[in-house]
Amino acid sequence: MSFCTSNYRVTLRGRPILKGLDMEVSGGRTLALLGANGAGKSTFMKGLCGLVPAQGSATINGTPLMDASPARRAQLIGYVAQDLASLDVRLSTYELLLLAQQGTTRGWRTSQNARRKAAEMLELLGLQRFSEHQPGQLSGGERQMISLALALVRSPRLLLLDEPTSALDLANQLQILDAVSSYTRKHNIVTLAIFHDMNLASRYADDTMMLHQGHVHCSGSTGATLTPENLAHVYGVDCRALSVDAGTFTAIYPVSVLTPEQRAAH
Ligand SMILES: Nc1ncnc2c1ncn2[C@@H]1O[C@H](COP(=O)(O)OP(=O)(O)OP(=O)(O)O)[C@@H](O)[C@H]1O
Ligand SMILES: [Mg+2]
Repeated sequence: MSFCTSNYRVTLRGRPILKGLDMEVSGGRTLALLGANGAGKSTFMKGLCGLVPAQGSATINGTPLMDASPARRAQLIGYVAQDLASLDVRLSTYELLLLAQQGTTRGWRTSQNARRKAAEMLELLGLQRFSEHQPGQLSGGERQMISLALALVRSPRLLLLDEPTSALDLANQLQILDAVSSYTRKHNIVTLAIFHDMNLASRYADDTMMLHQGHVHCSGSTGATLTPENLAHVYGVDCRALSVDAGTFTAIYPVSVLTPEQRAAH
């Protein structure tokens, strides 16, 4: 399993947002996609899903994505959007988990397999208590976790998570990201996750890519990429990298915003 893009570009209303992005991630790995507000991170994911027009090449295990039908893309990709307003429907979480696996609108004949997978997903993410609730009537964080369950229940090859923990409390951030990274490894899929929390990226991403002004500023293993130099360049912030727990974890501590002169020096 592998996911690759080559010279991947998106232009919106005549403005180039992504100017040629090359990425290669192998199965079982999670890549953190980082960059400042407006850098084009969500646009990158929307282009892969066919929600905005994109040029260049993107392949999942050699299968070209850009010419794939919406139905084929939906089979291959699980997507949790930054904006979750679309979950405001009059169905329970469990019904939505069954519906997500149908892929077609051929009625409500649910298989035993679909019911088993729905139950497994609720258990994996610790969401059993929300089974009978309508997501629209749950909190923002609860809804965010249900969106992830809906993306995973269809067994995607590529999982796209746009700020998947932005609404989650501390315990749920760790539980959900632990579940995602072990699912990614166990099923040998590729997960791309957008983060604004550098410590979550440091802890959960095998690889990291930073976008800046429409280009890839740096990419590679998270340890080698999530450095104060790269963070200064991309975010204009002076950060310290602190070794924690006998070097098993690198914490990122943001100290101050750099002046334009200091930033230019990077
Ligand atoms: N539909 C659109 N039409 C025109 N421009 C758009 C559209 N959607 C996004 N943009 C522009 O594209 C740029 C990238 O937006 P995008 O949402 O990808 O940023 P992002 O990196 O996800 O930022 P954030 O961290 O704030 O979520 C922004 O400057 C935005 O204004
Ligand atoms: Mg975004």
